[in-house]
Amino acid sequence: MPGDKSISHRAAIIAALARGTSRIDNLSTSEDCAATIRCLKALGVSIEQRGPEVLVQSTGILTAPSAPLDCGNSGTTMRLLAGILAGQGFESILTGDKSLRSRPMQRIIEPLTMMGAGISSVDGHAPLAIRGGPLNPIEYELLMASAQVKSCILLAGLNADGRTRVVEKQTTRDHTERILRWFQTHVETGNGEREGDRFASVTGPARFAACDVNIPGDVSSAAYFVAAAAMLDGSSVEIANVGLNPTRTLFLEQMRAFGFSIKTDDSIKTDDLRDDSNEPRGTIRISGARAFSRMREADDALTLHSALIPQLIDELPLLAVVGSQIDGGIEIRDAAELRVKESDRIAATVAGLRAMGAEVEEFAGGLKVTGPTRLRGAQIASRGDHRIAMSFSVAALIAEGETEINDAECVAVSFPEFFDLLDSIVER
Ligand code: S3P
Repeated sequence: MPGDKSISHRAAIIAALARGTSRIDNLSTSEDCAATIRCLKALGVSIEQRGPEVLVQSTGILTAPSAPLDCGNSGTTMRLLAGILAGQGFESILTGDKSLRSRPMQRIIEPLTMMGAGISSVDGHAPLAIRGGPLNPIEYELLMASAQVKSCILLAGLNADGRTRVVEKQTTRDHTERILRWFQTHVETGNGEREGDRFASVTGPARFAACDVNIPGDVSSAAYFVAAAAMLDGSSVEIANVGLNPTRTLFLEQMRAFGFSIKTDDSIKTDDLRDDSNEPRGTIRISGARAFSRMREADDALTLHSALIPQLIDELPLLAVVGSQIDGGIEIRDAAELRVKESDRIAATVAGLRAMGAEVEEFAGGLKVTGPTRLRGAQIASRGDHRIAMSFSVAALIAEGETEINDAECVAVSFPEFFDLLDSIVER
């Protein structure tokens, strides 16, 4: 798999803030990460592709950009960079494509304003004009489960004078905390005062030196291959060097709970499980079982909700597709965040599954699909959303007849190699 997208954004940003030359191996090939690299270059950082490595050379000090910074389709680029720019001694503008300009930014404007940054927006949406300056540390409780918001505040905290602490009620991916530690920055994490709460804190001003980073394969990209192989009888797929950070692997556990045969090195404990750059990684092995057979001894829909949702957030459209193949189907609740992703992923998933013949109910915060259903090929609207296009490519493989997905090249937002790789392993 190409390098993990979430870790790649963070590696590039932290390397841009570090003094010296950092080598990043296996940086994500996604358009989203290319947007981050473009923005960092516009902030005066030298970034050069050399073979499989990217060299990031920085003085540790960013310079004012001469034009608005274009984050493309990437929410992570915008929200993480906003945290960095809030503490700089210059003004900057963050903008993006139509989808990104419609996504909620008040969630970062509020904490950054509390820290002392001046941010103007179009009614809580990009373009964001950021007047950076000296920041105050804050203690902040996340209003929604979001690793992007948590990371934005922690990155701003690097430039604040004192300790910035973020509390989350539901665990979200912890790549920012991990990479900061890899760059020798002191990050405290632990349980909060209330049961189930977690906190992360950084103490600023923090300065750090360059460091080499090796990025594992993207487990969210691997998920499409895991699901396809698991549902196609007789398949056998092995995916090496995939990130197995516990805040990202709940999809694999869910697939196992459905009864599919998936082994990762963390469950079978081979020597292949290893840690590099403070991120665990290993090999995933999948054996296909017969779709439409009894995977699970239950008649009721399996329900995914509350605390599970943030750790499955990017895989939920795919899980809805898989759910259409298991006895009892699947119900997803407490996932209203899906409506403000690159597209309204609840509406897109419901429409796609219905077009393929599944019985689906739509809720404000989720959906319910009955199963098992024999899907049939259909016209699918990707809505320019990479995860919708990839989820329905998997649905197309198990459906009868031909499926046509419009605007399918949007997969390049996270995974430009997706169709070539799929084509190379699917037997006809
Ligand atoms: C990401 C966090 C998640 C996820 C996105 C990547 C990150 O978004 O959906 O694909 O890298 O921090 P939210 O923080 O909005 O939940």
